[in-house]
Amino acid sequence: MPPDIHRPALLREHNFIAQQWRVAASGRVYTVSDPATGLDFAEVPDSGADDARAAVDAAHAAFPGWRARTARERAQFLKRWHALIIAHQEELGRLISREQGKPQHEGRGEVLYAASYVEWFAEEATRTYGDLIPEPVRGKKLMVVKEPVGVVAAITPWNFPAAMIARKIAPALAAGCTVVAKPAEDTPLTSLALVRLAEEAGIPHGVLNIVTASRANAPAVVDVWLADPRVRKITFTGSTAVGKHLARESAGTLKKLSLELGGNAPFIVFDDADLDAAVEGLMASKFRNGGQTCVCPNRVYVQDGVHDAFVGKLVARVAALRVGPASEPDSQIGPMINARAIEKIERHVADAVANGARVVTGGTRLRDSQRDGPHYYAPTVLVGAQAAMECSCEETFGPVVPVTRFHDEADVVREANATPFGLASYFYSRDIARVWRVADQLECGIVGINEGALAAESAPFGGVKESGYGREGSRYGLDDYMHTKYLCQGQL
Ligand code: SIN
Repeated sequence: MPPDIHRPALLREHNFIAQQWRVAASGRVYTVSDPATGLDFAEVPDSGADDARAAVDAAHAAFPGWRARTARERAQFLKRWHALIIAHQEELGRLISREQGKPQHEGRGEVLYAASYVEWFAEEATRTYGDLIPEPVRGKKLMVVKEPVGVVAAITPWNFPAAMIARKIAPALAAGCTVVAKPAEDTPLTSLALVRLAEEAGIPHGVLNIVTASRANAPAVVDVWLADPRVRKITFTGSTAVGKHLARESAGTLKKLSLELGGNAPFIVFDDADLDAAVEGLMASKFRNGGQTCVCPNRVYVQDGVHDAFVGKLVARVAALRVGPASEPDSQIGPMINARAIEKIERHVADAVANGARVVTGGTRLRDSQRDGPHYYAPTVLVGAQAAMECSCEETFGPVVPVTRFHDEADVVREANATPFGLASYFYSRDIARVWRVADQLECGIVGINEGALAAESAPFGGVKESGYGREGSRYGLDDYMHTKYLCQGQL
């Protein structure tokens, strides 16, 4: 057991299927490693098709009973779960930092972020109103009711091991759906701990099921869910490539889909911006989780008149960031999640430099006695970034800020939109007419206007274009787990 998980009951190393903590049917396991050291510290089931099927059997059998509960009963369960998550903020936060690598204050913050979705959907559960439609002819009543879609398969990423699964499970349960879930290979332990707390909160038999699997075996699990007609919805956060695969493969049974996929967020600083606020906003949005979020700014455009001043202020802040393991309480940037992640960052920086960009600070992997793990990268600012560079075309997912100088508003908006992705965009300007003009023209699901911190349980999170579809959080987030049913009563 890792030394910093105080409550052994929260460290679960089994699947949870039909209210039982189980090993994989094959008996196989895989190891979970600490990204700060690269050392293994836990083992979880390496599940396969049999486990995936057993989870659906349980969720399918539980569905009629769960949907028949009143919304208030489902809300009460979610409120108990919320209270337990809050009560275990410290342990859960440490577990997140341990398996994912983010600094301790971010781990604790993520627990509150996750809990906020559970509380929000506990409240929304009781507000799934229908409609009464004015009848077009006498003698009829036209009504609309909302119904849960059925069994939901939730597939979640490693960058927010608590928040992403909470914002899928909570609306599903609130709507009356039952759930089968697979957390990311790298970070299964937080999700298992949350399910353990759901058990303690009294989740009924079969309503919530979770299976873990290694990268190699994940397709065996997911393929079962894709093919099974009893699974009526897939909700996924992760890469666009996997999202497209899920959309293609679920077409056979026409499942409902929510896909929260990759971004390539532009961050635009106009000449009329408050520069200090823009630097603060960029620091908050870019370096959250070490740059490993899908809404992190990936391309930073700064207008001619303020370019040099902005870069100067930014570099001073970035060079002062403290990089280190979560075990050091003052760390601000943790390790990257794994070797593939750090190799991608290195590739992007090398490509940018080879094509004319200049490193102003950082630009290397860190190897010193303080940070002797394999996954640390120095917070980096590049100037002279261009559209064709790899770092401008795909998410770097690391602590690298590529800055591009621009002259004209129309050109920068065109360039910001010149990507297949459309998740988040940010811009800083104090010109009110420009604020409305640019916000209107940016092709994305989320716009930060003079603001870098966008996440909130009450706001709709999701993208356009190849960043996916569906919304999480907010009052819109529940609709993704419900059908609209029309009832027409005659003979009145
Ligand atoms: C993500 O990176 O997928 C989610 C980030 C957020 O919720 O702010």
